[in-house]
Amino acid sequence: DGKFLTMGIESSCDETSVALLLEGRQVLSNVISSQIKVHQVFGGVVPEIASRHHLENINQVTEEALNQAGVTLDQVDLIGVTCGPGLVGALLIGLASAKAYAFAKDIPLVGVHHIQGHISANYIEYPELEPPFMALVVSGGHTNIVEVRDYNGFQVLGGTRDDAVGEAFDKVARVLGLGYPGGPRIDKLAREGNPQAVPFKRVFLEKDSYDFSFSGIKTGVLNYLNSEKQAGREVNQADVAASFQQAVLDVIVKKAVTAAKTMKKDKLVLAGGVAANSKLREMLEEQCRKNGIQLYRPAPVLCTDNAAMIACAAYYKYKGGFVSDLTLDAYPNLPL
Ligand code: KG4
Ligand code: ZN
Repeated sequence: DGKFLTMGIESSCDETSVALLLEGRQVLSNVISSQIKVHQVFGGVVPEIASRHHLENINQVTEEALNQAGVTLDQVDLIGVTCGPGLVGALLIGLASAKAYAFAKDIPLVGVHHIQGHISANYIEYPELEPPFMALVVSGGHTNIVEVRDYNGFQVLGGTRDDAVGEAFDKVARVLGLGYPGGPRIDKLAREGNPQAVPFKRVFLEKDSYDFSFSGIKTGVLNYLNSEKQAGREVNQADVAASFQQAVLDVIVKKAVTAAKTMKKDKLVLAGGVAANSKLREMLEEQCRKNGIQLYRPAPVLCTDNAAMIACAAYYKYKGGFVSDLTLDAYPNLPL
């Protein structure tokens, strides 16, 4: 009926997802097929298995997304697909599918940076939200503070020098024997623990740096567990989870709020899988209120990997005059 219809495709890690959006922000469908159960037995995502499952799932997920939205491929005005960063074999499945549909139906194609997608989840959650703002991107692969100047204009102020924050959550969960994926389990267990019980080191790096380092705290937790074991003391798992989480979040919250204040942004936008963390939301809410910053955070389903956020980002790239062609490739380490 004249409204602009975007189809988004996401397959960068272990979620196969296809979504249909009207006018860039209105979600008609957002089908997410998670492989968590498949990878759980290995304690993490196995890239080769992920690609195979994407391949098996993608057509069915696409069909379901079109059905749920009540549209056909012929009505689609634009196809947006994650082209990086991510697992190369996984990315290639989404790309091949997107390119095939674009070619067969002569639909414009836009490659999307996965992190731009995560940030864009907020445009779906908040129909009135517009740049500029400060963004905190926290996921299994990324920890970035990004100045969002425009829909397609980004300045990365800082990032992790080693592990991403979600990765740290997953590794510590593994050490605690909580299983995969660890983030949500630590979140839950930490609610029963004392965040002051173990004084894990807060790593702020150089003064004024917006960078992060989370590889040390994983070793810190491991050393703590070993020394307690050697001393024959019983470890309170909830206390360790709560203390680890607090140490990591103290640094993230401090840096994100400082960035917003320093760059004179009155909006802070949260994005990525770790944005689903209840303690992070609570701490940011408090700090933003104290500093006169408006906090934006997507619903949990829009925090973790999904294609709606990719479709939204594609819409704004297309409106900004950007199109990809069929030579579009997968870029495992694509910079924002
Ligand atoms: O954005 P995402 O789905 O995938 C990537 O692009 O990486 O993020 C997944 C990450 C995992 O590391 C997972 O443990 C973490 O987000 N995560 C959480 C929570 N929910 C998911 N971490 C902490 N607390 C949570 N509630
Ligand atoms: Zn992600």
